[in-house]
Amino acid sequence: MMTDDSNPTLPSLRTLPLPKRRDEVARLAGLAREEIERALATGGLDCDTADAMVENALGTLALPFGVAPGVRVNGVDYLVPMAIEEPSVVAAASHASKRVRSAGGFKATVDPSMMVAQIEVHDVADPAGALLRIEEAQTELVRRANEAVQGLVARGGGAKRVSTRDLGDGMIVTHVHVDCRDAMGANLLNTVAEALGARVAELAGGTLGLRILSNYCDERITRVTASLPVDALGDSRTKGIDAARGIARASLFAERDPYRAVTHNKGIMNGVDAVVLATGNDWRAVEAGAHAHASRSGAYRPLATWRLSDDERSLEGQIEIPLALGVVGGALRAHPGARLALALLRVTSAAELAAVAAATGLATNLAALRALSTEGIQRGHMALHHRATAAKLPR
Ligand code: MEV
Repeated sequence: MMTDDSNPTLPSLRTLPLPKRRDEVARLAGLAREEIERALATGGLDCDTADAMVENALGTLALPFGVAPGVRVNGVDYLVPMAIEEPSVVAAASHASKRVRSAGGFKATVDPSMMVAQIEVHDVADPAGALLRIEEAQTELVRRANEAVQGLVARGGGAKRVSTRDLGDGMIVTHVHVDCRDAMGANLLNTVAEALGARVAELAGGTLGLRILSNYCDERITRVTASLPVDALGDSRTKGIDAARGIARASLFAERDPYRAVTHNKGIMNGVDAVVLATGNDWRAVEAGAHAHASRSGAYRPLATWRLSDDERSLEGQIEIPLALGVVGGALRAHPGARLALALLRVTSAAELAAVAAATGLATNLAALRALSTEGIQRGHMALHHRATAAKLPR
């Protein structure tokens, strides 16, 4: 979090050489510069830690770790850490967020951290009776689940309810709905599924199958909106109204065509994943859930859409995305780079992190649609690519 209300002019980090940029970011985040240096000295992760994290480790694979300053969400300015190899994405997030910030910033709402543990049972002779017996045992099952995750219950979370579905041919599934609070939830949910499996199979009168969380967390949705006066979208080459009309038309294209919707959503995930990765969260889980959500109507649809207001004075954007993110547990404890990312962000909850990640995704989407519908993507994109190749990369 940055508290620069007293200094509404954002620092131009991109003009600073890297050591000075670290100084400036340390100052803005209230950290010692050494904290940034220590965490990033070995690409955010040292080999001994990597060795303890996975089997057969040989080393680590680094990515650029940048920050987008001034991403304002619900009135708070964040220094957003982003881990990504694509040259234009941090710049896109920064530029678009600056435009949104000048119009008041992003507004976010985040559902409670409800996740689902699935218990599958097959060879069930009487599925209707099985569902009834399991639902009647709801109080017992919730109690048993909470006995298995007492630490979570102490933090105010835990199992809340049970639901069931008949999947046909003697197969049923039981969902245990668990509030994970500030954890991503995978370990907690798998613990719950395994703790209840045998009892659920007994109640169902069938054979116990899979016990695992679902990565489709459709009760854990993050919604972010942005409203910009069309003038905020203009520059020396393009009038604001033309940019706004182009962005709204690009949104309709994605809403009507799944081929375009996939690329549109890729531009959103550029921002979301970069934050998810920097903060040590599970980006495969986020990706799987996001695309399931994009397909929930039966057709693949854009996660974010843009509309011009009736009077053509403002452009309104919105994103809706399931996000299972954590600020405790998982890789976070072990990973110095992820801990630094959270220290830069200064988020205090998983919900706050989800709001920032979704806002960053809406920002990269806005930047992409604006570029595509005005000058085309190559101009800005390739300038940054050329800088990268010209500066450092061996041929
Ligand atoms: C490139 O990484 C992302 C874009 O293709 C997104 C889009 O087309 O909206 C530019």
